[in-house]
Amino acid sequence: MRAQHFKSALFISTWLGLSCSSSMSLAQTADANNLYKRSLAATCANCHGTDGKGVIDGGMPLINGLTSEQMLTQLKAFKSGAREGTIMPQLAKGYTDEQLETIAKQLGQKP
Ligand code: HEC
Repeated sequence: MRAQHFKSALFISTWLGLSCSSSMSLAQTADANNLYKRSLAATCANCHGTDGKGVIDGGMPLINGLTSEQMLTQLKAFKSGAREGTIMPQLAKGYTDEQLETIAKQLGQKP
């Protein structure tokens, strides 16, 4: 009887320990994921400004008025060659479709 109590206590504490550490790693994964999304989107700030306002007099279009969907459409058009440009075609080709989606979600206006 005693041994059985001990065993179940051991089981519960192991289980608690495991579930704690797995929720911690979930939080860490969420942080890393956020950082990844933000750093992907941050690569655009050099030209378009940190809030998508564009660099004044730099000839850079404003992108902060676009919804995520409109932005993704433009990025995919640059990537496929459907839309011409000086910089964006090369840039868009460097990202996977998933990365472009992530960037557009991060930077685009939520409708
Ligand atoms: C080196 C400067 C530079 C960087 C970095 C840059 N862009 Fe651009 N972007 C431009 C220029 C210049 C244009 C105008 C089209 C062209 O000539 O390529 C443009 C156009 C666009 C357009 C079309 C805007 C419209 O009104 O249709 C979108 C959307 C866009 N960029 C999104 C992005 C995103 C998202 C990133 C980050 C992944 C990014 N750009 C990074 C320079 C840049």
